[in-house]
Amino acid sequence: MATPIANRTAKLTIEGGPDGETETIELPLYAGTEGPDVIDIGKLTAQGFFTYDPGFVSTAACESSITFIDGDAGILLHRGYPIEQLAEQSTYLELCYLLLNGELPSAQNLDEFVKTITRHTMVHDQLRNFFNGFRADAHPMAIMCGVVGALSAFYHDSLDIDDPSHRLITAHRLIAKMPTLAAMSHKFSQGQPFMYPRNDLDYASNFLYMMFGSPCEDYEVNPVLARAMDRIFLLHADHEQNASTSTVRLAGSTGANPFACIAAGIAALWGPAHGGANEAVLNMLSEIGSFKNIDKYIAKAKDKDDPFRLMGFGHRVYKNYDPRAKVMQQTCKEVFEELGVEDDPMLKMAQRLEKIALEDEYFVEKRLYPNVDFYSGIILKAMGIPVDMFTVVFATGRTPGWIAQWNEMVSSSYKIGRPRQLYNGPSARDYVAIDQR
Ligand code: SDX
Repeated sequence: MATPIANRTAKLTIEGGPDGETETIELPLYAGTEGPDVIDIGKLTAQGFFTYDPGFVSTAACESSITFIDGDAGILLHRGYPIEQLAEQSTYLELCYLLLNGELPSAQNLDEFVKTITRHTMVHDQLRNFFNGFRADAHPMAIMCGVVGALSAFYHDSLDIDDPSHRLITAHRLIAKMPTLAAMSHKFSQGQPFMYPRNDLDYASNFLYMMFGSPCEDYEVNPVLARAMDRIFLLHADHEQNASTSTVRLAGSTGANPFACIAAGIAALWGPAHGGANEAVLNMLSEIGSFKNIDKYIAKAKDKDDPFRLMGFGHRVYKNYDPRAKVMQQTCKEVFEELGVEDDPMLKMAQRLEKIALEDEYFVEKRLYPNVDFYSGIILKAMGIPVDMFTVVFATGRTPGWIAQWNEMVSSSYKIGRPRQLYNGPSARDYVAIDQR
């Protein structure tokens, strides 16, 4: 629990009250291990005030020890470990363990964790019928919102959120089953048979096998693509209190079951301003179409009266290069070399767009840099993953972060999230009978 910093107080002086009075309210400050100190405004309501912070730009909604971001310096730490080192030396499942447990696993811990996740990759076979309720052209994210929420209809044995063992097996089930459900969403949209997970494959290879395998012939997973897929999942694993994680926490604060909370997170992630940006980047590059149109679209992005934004650029927190984007760019090069498509026009267009934007005064002045979504979609497309599956991949990767943040909240003391508002509607007035209107 946060403790006040000794001898450090915020004094809020409010002048020009109704009777010309001035009042001063003293508010405690708390310090974390990294990042800005926070001002506890909890007692303002009793003093007759709310704070006003649409979009929660300056609001710390919780205390957490999972992920730290320094947006100005372009730093991302998971339980203190820099994302660059994790991307280079760790694996996605090891990061899942770290996010859930707070420490890197021993070799034995990791082996047991991987075996546990592997054993949970199958889904209840009756879930296959659930897919049949969707139209064949349903967006895979629409399917994932429904199917993940529906998991709470299958696992009645582990829905007591106050039982640590229920929270643990639910975390394992969600991490393990997301790739299976994601691949099923893809196969359903292709009208192809679902592929059962294989226990002899690693996590990322299993996902690619379930996505692209067929019962009619053997499917060999390309190890370079599997490593790239593992790194893409790793880069998406958690990201502090972003919109979808905050949605998971808000849903969890009501005591809702974790499957429902993660389904809420998936729904929030779908938006193009958030996890839907990777799909939007590819659609944008297709719309731009050729190098000669780039300047026109850069001008559109800068035009206040034009709703067009350069998708994959900008970030609420990073006012420097998103460290994940740098790793993603390196992964992009590896995948394109492996596939022999270094000259892919989409990649060339993205690289050109990035160069022009990074040199343009508008983007420099507003500190708009490529974010994690700018290159991820280009890699996924090169790997043969359809554009409408990009955000499903993001949701799969983000699952350990969502569940770790949910678990951190539910396993400590928490209150139901219930923000207030600045009301500017009509003051009280009497009802008017319809024949008087
Ligand atoms: C993710 O929060 C997270 O951590 C998210 C995420 C995660 O891992 O969970 O990192 C994943 O969501 C990455 C972001 C993906 N979204 C996009 O790439 C969509 C394009 N980006 C923008 O929509 C925007 O940059 C946001 C939504 C990401 C951030 O928006 P903010 O913080 O609310 O910033 P803003 O909209 O107030 O923009 C500040 C200024 C504005 O101009 P002014 O009103 O000050 O004149 O910058 C402009 C904006 O118009 N601007 C852009 C722009 N992004 C911001 N102009 C053109 N193109 C852009 N992409």
